[in-house]
Amino acid sequence: MPDWPAWLTILLIATNLLSLVALFFVARRMLKLRRQKKRAFAFSGYPIRKAKLEEVAPCFEMTRYGPSPASEVRFIGGEGVVASLSDRESWVMAVLAKGAKRIFEFGTCTGKTAHVFALNAAPDAEIHTLTLHPEDLAALEFGLGDDKHHRDVAVEESAFETFFYNGQPTEKNIRQIFSDSKAYDESALRGKVDLVFVDGAHTRTYVESDTRKALNMLADEGVILWHDYKPDAPDVFAFLNELSKQLPLVHIAETDLVMYRRTAGGN
Ligand SMILES: C[S@@+](CC[C@H](N)C(=O)[O-])C[C@H]1O[C@@H](n2cnc3c(N)ncnc32)[C@H](O)[C@@H]1O
Repeated sequence: MPDWPAWLTILLIATNLLSLVALFFVARRMLKLRRQKKRAFAFSGYPIRKAKLEEVAPCFEMTRYGPSPASEVRFIGGEGVVASLSDRESWVMAVLAKGAKRIFEFGTCTGKTAHVFALNAAPDAEIHTLTLHPEDLAALEFGLGDDKHHRDVAVEESAFETFFYNGQPTEKNIRQIFSDSKAYDESALRGKVDLVFVDGAHTRTYVESDTRKALNMLADEGVILWHDYKPDAPDVFAFLNELSKQLPLVHIAETDLVMYRRTAGGN
């Protein structure tokens, strides 16, 4: 039997390795397409009623010159930072923050929205903003059915321990809380918060727990806003669609924001 040449062995190993790499990329692409298809199939429109800005606050009423001076706010435009809101969303949030005495945010990230809240709230307002410290990722307690992709996002976005507002005049109004939101005890703020922004981990068990705490903290006439009401955040989307059967939620037009306003003595 003739000798097996060394170059043939090397060639065989190289082609096998190349096939494995190609197989890996094809499988990854196929899994991604399958996930997208599953989401597209489950998607049958946005069930929560859409509300025009005028319904969100009277100051959004249009004039013949465009938006009214009553809707003037202070904010920083541009949408390039991690997990940032759109400019329209920042405008809406800033209007709703105007005059608020106490605001609570689930999910600080860069701290840009906390800064915007403080720029527009009452001069003596308290802005409480809660986030997970990058060295405390082990505290995350996902549920079994929590969306895998958004588990990873929660970890990636928990990268900040200093914030946009540091060194700014707004800092004196901002109370930074480092905690996993499921471990946070909201009882000291029960019924005392004018505006709650739910924008922490976008997985089912977290958005459910953050919402329960938001409702506990909400004052009469207070407002809760949730971010990322869209099929791409499937746990938030499904949870809010279910919640809208119990609470009068509205989807603010041309934003990914959903809003609930508590009427005196309401839920
Ligand atoms: C979408 S970003 C928030 C963006 C921010 N609200 C803004 O408008 O700029 C999500 C934030 O939630 C935080 N987060 C994720 N999981 C959390 C958890 N289990 N407990 C507390 N914070 C969490 C992340 O650290 C990140 O800062």
